[in-house]
Amino acid sequence: MKLHTYPSIACSLVVFASSLVSAETGKQLYTTYCSACHAPDGKGATGGTFPPLAKSEWLTGKPDRAIQTVLHGLTGEVKVLGKSYNLAMPPQGAVINDNQIASILTYVRSSWGNKESAVTPAQIKTARIASAKRTTPWKEQELLKLYPHPAPKSPISDLIRYTYEEGKHSKMPDFSKIKSTSVEEEHHGLLNLKNIAAKDNFGVVWEGKLNIPKSGKFTFNLSSDDESALYLNGKKVTAVTSKGALGSNSQRKIAKVNLQQGTTPIRIEFYEHTGQQGIALNWSGPGIPGTQWLSEDRPNTGNNRRKKKPPVVIDLTPTSKESAIYNHFLNGTTPRSLAVGHPNGTNFAFSTKNCSMDILWSGKFISAGRHWTGRGTGRTDPIGDNKLPLGGQGFITDAPVQFKGYSLNTLRQPTLRYTVGSSSVTDAILPGNTNHELVRTLTIKGNNTLKFSAVSGIPVKQLDNANYELAGSWKLTLPNTPAEANKDSITLTLAPGTHTLTYSLK
Ligand code: HEC
Repeated sequence: MKLHTYPSIACSLVVFASSLVSAETGKQLYTTYCSACHAPDGKGATGGTFPPLAKSEWLTGKPDRAIQTVLHGLTGEVKVLGKSYNLAMPPQGAVINDNQIASILTYVRSSWGNKESAVTPAQIKTARIASAKRTTPWKEQELLKLYPHPAPKSPISDLIRYTYEEGKHSKMPDFSKIKSTSVEEEHHGLLNLKNIAAKDNFGVVWEGKLNIPKSGKFTFNLSSDDESALYLNGKKVTAVTSKGALGSNSQRKIAKVNLQQGTTPIRIEFYEHTGQQGIALNWSGPGIPGTQWLSEDRPNTGNNRRKKKPPVVIDLTPTSKESAIYNHFLNGTTPRSLAVGHPNGTNFAFSTKNCSMDILWSGKFISAGRHWTGRGTGRTDPIGDNKLPLGGQGFITDAPVQFKGYSLNTLRQPTLRYTVGSSSVTDAILPGNTNHELVRTLTIKGNNTLKFSAVSGIPVKQLDNANYELAGSWKLTLPNTPAEANKDSITLTLAPGTHTLTYSLK
């Protein structure tokens, strides 16, 4: 035992020491080769005449853009953090070797607020080979074509799209008076009109939270084909009220708004009469590099026409075959829950925070229209019958439980994935063969046997070896699973492998 531990201690000391040395040299080499122009604090020498490296988008993502800049230099007009420069950076590839460039860029990419991964000498070597024929400094266009900046993260979070595909309106309707036909979360935080089945006479409302980086005056540029309106913090800021093509003068509105640092509710309404459709929105202001798009459509790039793909609409009523999914605020579970309505009349809500099934109910799913309350904090109730709060359901553990996402089969039925400590779990919650039957298959991969709370806090009556009555209305069937039941809870002992829990309406 002893013999075994000595070398590993020695080894880790060596690693520790060498990483200290390389961090130190990164800084020293930066002082020697870069700081005269980019300044010791990375903000650009001579009061910002030279471009900054602190928070520069040129250093984000893969390191190749920065490596090539150092190897061959950069000249002509260059944009950094929204500001233009027209200077020249001399090539340094002949002066600094691979190890040194790797150390410098590792230092630069992890200093002054930059949080990018380390750069290795092997990456410099590969980059030298890739650009071996180059004899002149790069121009911005050439370099960014090969190594584009990563797409910036959208400043809108929790963006939900409500689509209204029923009924024709002569002008922008009052959306609080009509019902949405589908609700979806826009995971990229950008407005878009993808996957909407209707081509004409449909409305869309987006609601989310806009992240304001600094207090000050912001300019919003809204354009749409046809009508649209922008609301911030519950107030209408500007609106496009005529019918016409995206980007044309009559369809473009500019608004200047004073906003406080922090988050503010944002709401965008859109109505399409006939013909083509598109909506574009951007903003600029303090703390925003240049002009930032808040939509996927951009009026001047020409891709503002919707491609005709087979529509995938998430409807809030299960169709005869497909299941319905709703992933937003639902009463009785945590924010960020996933509610699923199966066509056989079984519905459940799953908390992606706790990785637990919180509510089970039968019949109708949920009401579609969550109405704008001015602050966007509305919640929806499950409708339907036999609502069963399962109460603290899920794995009983001190280890972290982490939701990893879900996949949908062709009938839009989800299989959820999460980890419980070192074990990974897939949790398929599918409709059974008969009406009002839900079959849950838990597959555990790992070395540990886990405790699982099937229900707690509701009346439980054991019927036989494998069947339990829950709150007088539902039946839970547990073949071959060791279970410990008492009058208001059932706890299971789940070994690695597959376990089936069947819930059916009595
Ligand atoms: C002689 C001055 C000078 C030196 C030394 C210099 N640079 Fe630059 N650097 C510039 C200038 C000027 C630009 C902008 C070029 C333009 O306007 O076309 C630039 C641009 C850059 C950019 C892209 C734009 C940005 O601000 O993010 C990076 C990355 C960069 N330099 C990194 C370095 C690194 C790393 C070193 C040290 C190895 C270094 N530079 C040394 C002058 C210099």
